[in-house]
Formats: sequence, C-alpha cells, structure tokens
Amino acid sequence: MTESTQECIHPYGDTRHRAQDDPAASGPTTGFDRSGGELLRALRLGQLLAIIGAPAGPRTPLSVLDAGCGRGWFARALARGGHRVDAFDVSSAAVAQARGEGGGPRYAVADLSGWRSPRPSDAVLCLDVLFHVLDDDAWAAALHNLASLVRPSGRLIVTDADLGERAVGGDRLVHRPAAAYRAALEPLGLRHRHFLPYGFRENTFGFQVFTRVRRHP
Ligand SMILES: C[S@@+](CC[C@H](N)C(=O)[O-])C[C@H]1O[C@@H](n2cnc3c(N)ncnc32)[C@H](O)[C@@H]1O
Repeated sequence: MTESTQECIHPYGDTRHRAQDDPAASGPTTGFDRSGGELLRALRLGQLLAIIGAPAGPRTPLSVLDAGCGRGWFARALARGGHRVDAFDVSSAAVAQARGEGGGPRYAVADLSGWRSPRPSDAVLCLDVLFHVLDDDAWAAALHNLASLVRPSGRLIVTDADLGERAVGGDRLVHRPAAAYRAALEPLGLRHRHFLPYGFRENTFGFQVFTRVRRHP
C-alpha cells in the first residue's frame, strides 16, 4: 500500500477542509439545514451498510476502501460496524483531521487515480467525490484505478445525482448518469447492479452499485 507524503493541492482540497466545520456540507447535503444534513448522512450510512453486508464474524471483517474519505466520518462508522477500513484523501488537512479522530481506519494522503494496494477490497467506496472531478479524463482514470481495487464479487459503490444525462452545476460540479458510469466500468469487468436513490425529500442523489463479475483487464 502506498502513502503519498506529498502536500496535495486540489480545487476541493485543503483550504475547504480547513475552513469548513461540517464535512458533509457539500454535494447531496447542500440545501439542507444542519439537522437535515445529519439525517441524510445517517440514512446513507444505513443504506451503505446494507449494500456492503455484514462481516461474517469479528475475526472475518470485510475489507473496505473509502476513496476520498474527507474527514473520515463514513470510514469511522464503517470501522465501528466491524469492517477493516482503509481510507485516503487528496487533502492532507482532511486526513490529518480524520487521523485525529482515531477510531480504527488506516489513513493515507493519495489521489483517486494514484492509490495502490497489494490486496483488492471487498468494497470500494467513493462518496461525494466523483462529481467534484470536472475533467472527464481524470474522472475515467479515477474509475479505472478504483475498479482495479475491487476483488472478484466485490462491490464498487459511488455516489452521484442520476439525472438521466450529464448535468453541470456551476463551476464546481459535473453529475454523470448511470449510463456514463456503465460505459466506463463495464469494460473493466464490473456489472451495474442498481442505482439506489437516497429517497430523502427532493434529493436526486444516490448510490451507483457495481459488482466485479470478470477480472480487471
Ligand atoms: C464532499 S467531500 C466527501 C468526503 C467523504 N467521502 C464524505 O462523504 O464525507 C469530497 C472529498 O473528495 C476529496 N477529493 C476530491 N478529489 C479527489 C481526488 N482526486 N483524489 C482523492 N480525493 C479527492 C476532497 O479532498 C474531499 O475530501
């Protein structure tokens, strides 16, 4: 497993993490007050735990990789659920704060397309990150790398708003539909299982869930 020691500079990155109190105050939680944001985050955690499944026992945790973990709220919650969690983010400030919270996950500073692991994971998560990746080549490179980290029968779970077509939100967001994720991931041996919308008020975001059915080419 590699850990970049380089100080990362990214359009989302360190400045935002230093400035914001609430790690979830972007993407799907935008537009909700604090209690709405907290409710949505709790709902999403429940959905995520159901998609990933339970560890068979305390000695047989599932391995989960949280790519773009931010300050590690989901990583910590999944570790509390009995999973063995690795987590990374391009923002060294976010990773420092996540590490400061403790709680079980192993953290690293790395980019979505640069993270390497000797062991594939049972579940690879990328929550509220890919719609911040505006450049299509960088987005495809990120998916290519994340796909390579999923073990046979394992899951890749990413979040986005599925509006049926590509949608640009100002100068900070690009939402891509299921068809775009399928076109990128199916040639890499991942099959689209479903889009699970959060179903929270008027929110249009949800989980795109893929399963590895063939070897990574
Ligand atoms: C909205 S936050 C989501 C954090 C966390 N996944 C969550 O759901 O609470 C987006 C995160 O993606 C990270 N990020 C953006 N681009 C990235 C990249 N290319 N590689 C790794 N992390 C990235 C940002 O630093 C930020 O922490």
